[in-house]
Parts: sequence; C-alpha cells; structure tokens
Amino acid sequence: MEKKKEIVLSGIRPTGSLHLGNYFGALTNYVKMQEDFDCYFFVADLHSLTTHPDTSELKENVKNVIATMLAAGIDPEKATLYNQSHLQGTAELYLYLNMMAYKGELEKTVTFKEKARQQPDNVNAGLLTYPVLQAADILIHLAKYVPVGKDQEQHLEMTRNFAKRFNHRYGEVFPEPEAFNFNQKLVKIPSLDGEGKMSKSVNENATIYLTDSDELIRKKVMKAKTDSGPTERDSPMPEYIENLFQLMRLVSTQDTLAHFESAYKNCTVRYGDMKKQLAEDMVGFVSPIRNRITEIMEDEAYINKIMAEGAEKANEHASKTMSLVRNAMGLNYF
Ligand code: TRP
Repeated sequence: MEKKKEIVLSGIRPTGSLHLGNYFGALTNYVKMQEDFDCYFFVADLHSLTTHPDTSELKENVKNVIATMLAAGIDPEKATLYNQSHLQGTAELYLYLNMMAYKGELEKTVTFKEKARQQPDNVNAGLLTYPVLQAADILIHLAKYVPVGKDQEQHLEMTRNFAKRFNHRYGEVFPEPEAFNFNQKLVKIPSLDGEGKMSKSVNENATIYLTDSDELIRKKVMKAKTDSGPTERDSPMPEYIENLFQLMRLVSTQDTLAHFESAYKNCTVRYGDMKKQLAEDMVGFVSPIRNRITEIMEDEAYINKIMAEGAEKANEHASKTMSLVRNAMGLNYF
C-alpha cells in the first residue's frame, strides 16, 4: 500500500499584492512541498476581517493571492488550493476551540498586543481570538507541518496547546502541528532602504511587489540606498550594500554577482551601474511572474473554477475531521 503522505498546511492573508519576501519566503517552499506532502494552501480571507473590515477590495485581493499562488507554480492537481471562508467547518471548529482558549493567554499574544496598539479604535474580539481561528485552520485538516515565518511561531505553540486541551478533555483527535522551515536557514529578503526586510506594512517604496510594473521596479531599485563605495581593499560591507548583493544573489546570474563582488573588493565598484544591472535582472525575474498573474486574473472563469474545486476538496477532507470532533464532544444527537 502507498504510504500516506504527511499533511502540510499554510495560509496567506489577502491584504494586498504579494512581494518578493512572500515569494522566496513562502511560495517557493509551498511549490517544493507539494511534491512530497499532502498540501493545503489557502487564502485567509476571514483573518483579514480582523484588521480590514472594509470588504470593497476583498474579492479582488483574494483572487490576486490565488492567481499569485498559481503563477508561482502551485499545482491545484497536487495541492488543495482554497479560500478560507469556503470551508465552513473552520467557523464551527473555531467556536468549539474558543471554549478552550483563555482570555489571559489570548491577551498576552504578541501579535494581538501589536495590532491592538496599531488600531486602538477597533480592538475587536476577532483580533483577540485570531490565534484560535488560525488553530481551527490547521487542526481541521489534521496538519502536521505548517510552513511559516518566525513571527508565527507563537500561534503554532497556541495551536498545540488547544489541540492538547481538546484531546485531553474529549479524546485523541488532533496531532500537534509544528512550524516547518524548508531550508533551516530562512532566506532573508532585505528591503531596498537598508532597513529590515521587505514588508507590506513597513515600507512600500522599498518593497518589490510581484505586480509592480517594469518602470516601478527600476525606479525602486535605482532609489536603493548606497554610498560612494569602499576606498580600501576588503573593507567590511555596510548592511544596505550587503542587501543589494543579497538581492542580486536571488535574481542575477553567477557571473554578474562575481563581477560586482570583485569590483567591491578592489574598490572599483560603481553602485549606479550595479543598481542598473540589478534593476534589469529584477525586471527579468518579476515580469514573467507578473504577466502570469495578470493573465490568470483576466480569466475570471478559471479562477472561479479553481476556487470551487479547491473548496470541494477542502470540505471533503475537513468534514471527516468535523465528524470526529462532534462525536468526541458528544454533539452527535441522532
Ligand atoms: N496568521 C498568518 C499570517 O499572518 C496567516 C494564517 C492564517 C495562517 N491561518 C493560518 C498561516 C494557518 C499558517 C496556518 O501570516
């Protein structure tokens, strides 16, 4: 008999276009994992309501994330690709898990405290129970591995606690999921202003989005922070210059990289030229992805079909878990 593959699950909130950080940090890992695991990848439209109650752009954003996942190489024949609110069992499991989540632990969550600070006029209960909804996403598919960044580790730990409490009170249903980092070392995708990594919320102008036009990519790269260059052989590299080399490593050829590395070493590097080259290589890298995203977005019927098929597969798998859950809890009346 064929060995059952282990279950992997991850979600992305649809709060705007995805950027290079999402691409290298999440999407390329999803694409690799779909070969060896039973994968569930979804768009977390419900989670976005905790911070973005205005839904006028929600549909567009959900479709953009689906299209981006497809453009990056997620194959809906291999992985189950769906939108969170199409899996109604998630809302039901969220309700049950809420009875096992304590106000004190939710209030202590780092992401909650951060968001409460950012939106003091909308500290809603959904924000407080965000980790419970995330636990429902994960547990409803009995996932074992969750590919996520460091900032999500606390949510994973809470998920394990909710799973343990459920199992202890009602009988063994859920495995305890773990965060999964594909390469051990996470690739850092630095922002172009020399500060931190590319991010939706922090600095738009220093972040390359997968939907940016060629012109905009060139403009952003050319504005990246540099200085007048080293004057002594083998000078230590400031972080903002190291960042440009890091980006070059991701999108340029070995030869290009080697050329500018040796120019740096012997103090002949011209950052204007280096950025021009990086801009062209960045355009060469991003534009085919962007074009695929656009192409897919224009085919409304195709996206709808992918979402409908994904919803069906996700519901079929989750409904088995939900029967186990209701039986375990004694919510099976007839
Ligand atoms: N909280 C995650 C983030 O902000 C998104 C998310 C929602 C998620 N549900 C999930 C990630 C389940 C992994 C598993 O990035």
